[in-house]
Amino acid sequence: MPLWYGGDYNPEQWPEEVWEEDVRLMQRAGVNLATVGVFSWAKLEPRDGEFDFGWLDRILDQLHEGGVRVDLATATASPPAWLAKMHPEMLPVTAEGTKLWPGSRQHYCPSSPVYREHARRLVTAIAERYAEHPALELWHVNNEYGCHVSRCYCDASAAAFRGWLENRYSTVEALNEAWGTAFWSQRYDSFDEVLPPRAAPTFQNPTQLLDFDRFSSDELLACYRAEVEVLRRVSPDVPITTNFMGFFKPVDYWAWAKEVDVVADDSYPDPADPDAPAYAAMQRDLMRSLRGGQPWLLMEQAPSAVNWRQRNAPKAAGQMRAWSYQALARGADGILYFQWRQSAAGAEKFHSGMVPHSGTETRVWREIEELGQELAALSDSLAGTRVGGDKAAIVLDWDSWWAIEQPASPTALPYLDGIFAWHRSLTALGLTVDFVQADGPLADYPVVVVPSLFVASDAQLQHLHDYAAAGGRLVVTHHTGILDENLHVRLGGYLGRLQETLGVWIEEFSPTAGAIGVYEGAVVKAESAEVPAARLRGDVLGGSAAASSWGEVLHPRSASVLAEFAHAGLEGSPAVTVNEIGDGAAWYVATLPEPSAREALLSAIVEQTGMTIERVPEGQEVVRRGPYTFRIDLVQNTVEVEGAVDSED
Ligand code: GLA
Repeated sequence: MPLWYGGDYNPEQWPEEVWEEDVRLMQRAGVNLATVGVFSWAKLEPRDGEFDFGWLDRILDQLHEGGVRVDLATATASPPAWLAKMHPEMLPVTAEGTKLWPGSRQHYCPSSPVYREHARRLVTAIAERYAEHPALELWHVNNEYGCHVSRCYCDASAAAFRGWLENRYSTVEALNEAWGTAFWSQRYDSFDEVLPPRAAPTFQNPTQLLDFDRFSSDELLACYRAEVEVLRRVSPDVPITTNFMGFFKPVDYWAWAKEVDVVADDSYPDPADPDAPAYAAMQRDLMRSLRGGQPWLLMEQAPSAVNWRQRNAPKAAGQMRAWSYQALARGADGILYFQWRQSAAGAEKFHSGMVPHSGTETRVWREIEELGQELAALSDSLAGTRVGGDKAAIVLDWDSWWAIEQPASPTALPYLDGIFAWHRSLTALGLTVDFVQADGPLADYPVVVVPSLFVASDAQLQHLHDYAAAGGRLVVTHHTGILDENLHVRLGGYLGRLQETLGVWIEEFSPTAGAIGVYEGAVVKAESAEVPAARLRGDVLGGSAAASSWGEVLHPRSASVLAEFAHAGLEGSPAVTVNEIGDGAAWYVATLPEPSAREALLSAIVEQTGMTIERVPEGQEVVRRGPYTFRIDLVQNTVEVEGAVDSED
């Protein structure tokens, strides 16, 4: 397999005369993979059951002759107008009861039998026609599942939700117990009475909300599976993917990643945001982690500006290259863009393309061509290799994400704040950071950080305990083990099984101001003047330090106190503790310390493991992959690729 280079190609937006030039320019740029047909349903099936494949035959043949492989889409992401006209019941409905009409894209209810049946018929026709086409490299199922419509509240969704619940709980008594419906007279007498969490007077049942999140992720996955079933039957040897969207809350990618042959990601960091490179690094680490380190594809990035922010900054000279290398260094086997030729019409005409409106005498085109040449030169030695370096892990959990951001909580806490903060600190120490599941394989990681695992089953907590007891170094932060998988509180000091692991119990919560506000997802940034941000003191944090987001009244049992709160209200209460357990140790961090304090704590922990700390300045990255060390400066946008590293790497 080579390194892939290319992008979304929408030939149907152009007269056929342009296609020849497209293929010629693709060759010039070193493009070897084009994603075709993502939004072609209306052109491929202009009327119910009438297919027109002539144009797609011609362009696939031309691409093949030009040496460009094809990532062929199943075209199901944007249903044609005739389908919505014939069957308006397949249109999605919001929690408030508003139907979402055609005229943009993704206007389908994931549970709609009509949608699924028509999608299946289209996929079958495409698969049967192109399974043997010599250009076919990969199937691209649908597009960005859940991007615009991740939750539907229509009657078909309600029926599907009930089915999902019956499958999960078997009896309505079990549902009542799990959902805690004794509260506010919410008891159900039969599954027929249960609804999706449609707009309601005030706070909804938390477990109903969580189950609807779980259901909705599963329901989109069921759409994916229905297409995959056809593709596997018709073309068993052709790999299959669908494009993910990084840290995308509505869809649990741990479940999805098991069902793709290769992880593909769409990534659009904001060129004007100084935090964007660090966030992008984290996103790339997630993509590599989803299938245990397997190389993945950067399926979409912008050649320069996007068109969907308030202000759409272009990428600075060298920025697209530097960010592409960041992805390569962190395990990508392909660098692809949205899209090949910048559109002349439609809602994305101001989104950059590899071939810009102004043609090839442009900086964007020159950078596209140059990167294509560089990738071709690296291809043989880099493609398929794994990311090296000393490794730490962070536990990432969608149930916790969904639940922690529900209303009626002790504080509004964006889940990714903690994830991003701890990722950034481990990365600053020069470690390679993998994401893992709470019950996933942990033994290979000398250090595992668990930021706010709010929802955890007994088995997950036991698994974390066992990791520490077997010699691991477990770092657990606030908001962990508060609720079980049904969102029932772990009574008697929270933490459940981890009380013994950590040697502490929690008396009372005392949230503080100053959630750090995660990149492009901030829900909370406001600080009220009366609420103090936390202060901490403790040698392990480098003396005195600031902290944010959270505080609590914590009591050690067997743990030693390493740092304490030093602000009014929590003065003297333990903030960071450590507990020896079996052959390992477990730290508890009851707040979010500022970066220097996090790094001081993590350094002290990492030093116990024999791993090397190699501090890298903010904005720079040193990543080892295959035979190379990549030194990337994401401020200056420069890249150095060093080969021939010693055998230890
Ligand atoms: C997503 C979609 C593309 C396009 C880009 C624009 O990634 O998959 O079709 O809309 O966004 O940034």
